Amino acid sequence: MNSQLLIDRFGRFHDYLRISLTDSCNFRCFYCMPDGPLNALPSQKLMSPNEIFHFAKFFSDLGVKKIRLTGGEPLVRKEFSHILEMLAQLPVELTLTTNGVLIDKHIDTLRKSGIQSINISLDSLNPETFFKITKRDDFDRVMKNIEMLIDCGMHIKINAVAMRELIEHELIDFIEFTRDKPVHVRFIEFMPFSGNNWSSNKVISADQMMKLVGSEYDVVKLRDKPHSTAKKYKVVGYEGTLAFITTMSEHFCGDCNRLRLTADGKLKNCLFGKEEWDLLTAYRNNSDLMSIVEKCVEAKFDKLGGQLNPDFEKIDLDAIDNRSMIKIGG
Ligand code: 5AD
Ligand code: SF4
Repeated sequence: MNSQLLIDRFGRFHDYLRISLTDSCNFRCFYCMPDGPLNALPSQKLMSPNEIFHFAKFFSDLGVKKIRLTGGEPLVRKEFSHILEMLAQLPVELTLTTNGVLIDKHIDTLRKSGIQSINISLDSLNPETFFKITKRDDFDRVMKNIEMLIDCGMHIKINAVAMRELIEHELIDFIEFTRDKPVHVRFIEFMPFSGNNWSSNKVISADQMMKLVGSEYDVVKLRDKPHSTAKKYKVVGYEGTLAFITTMSEHFCGDCNRLRLTADGKLKNCLFGKEEWDLLTAYRNNSDLMSIVEKCVEAKFDKLGGQLNPDFEKIDLDAIDNRSMIKIGG
């Protein structure tokens, strides 16, 4: 094993890989999709199940300990069950980020795979707002699926994108959702990606959210896990927890251990990086993968892909060169 390969110039060891299975989605969240036509990848450009397995094994051999499957929406990938069954053979912690709508279809595969924790993207607990955000009428199905996962004993994190106008009306509802359910709600500060109409005045920072929460509730800080992106809290007496992902107001890049593989097999060393390393083409041409991974890790910037200003009020969306979120996979 050559795990040195995954250590960058700043001493960060990258033992967490996020693999996007598809750039398609059954929702249409405006903050994630670019304006205009979607242009989903044709199937021959997607990593095949065997290619995904090959890359996952390759990185696991290099020292990767955790793999998260993302999208678009990973559960719309036709071969999802097959991919999961293959990856479940590897000595890695497997996990998934999904919008939750197809969980019922895949519940048996998920249970068999040994996955213990799932992140559900859910930005509103109000069916009408949910529809406005996703353009889909699936609120009840998602809520039922969350209950189903709780009944299976799955650890459930709810990812809610915090956009100022929207989340202000929802904070209390989300916190009440943690009252007697073992769910872990994470408010993610709104991040800029190509085509998502981000502007700094749409960001509500964790501090600002915490002020609103603190004025209503008795909240205690919990200890955060190593490499965790979330700052965790709990309302005293509530079963679940709440957390803030402070990418915009206080980045956590110094502790980053993540690499990303896009659905078309490009390796990215940062969510906000513009550079990509084409692993899939190299693999299909029988070229050496090690040297590509080495270059990718070596090139990683200290923070925010080397292109976002840590002072988010100074970020100019038009100056950012990156994919849209749906094409990265989160
Ligand atoms: N800002 C913050 N979070 C986002 N997500 C998608 N786009 C954005 C954005 N612009 C969230 C999704 C998903 C996770 C991977 O990232 O809701 O839960
Ligand atoms: Fe789909 Fe997730 Fe993007 Fe919404 S945020 S459009 S659910 S991939």
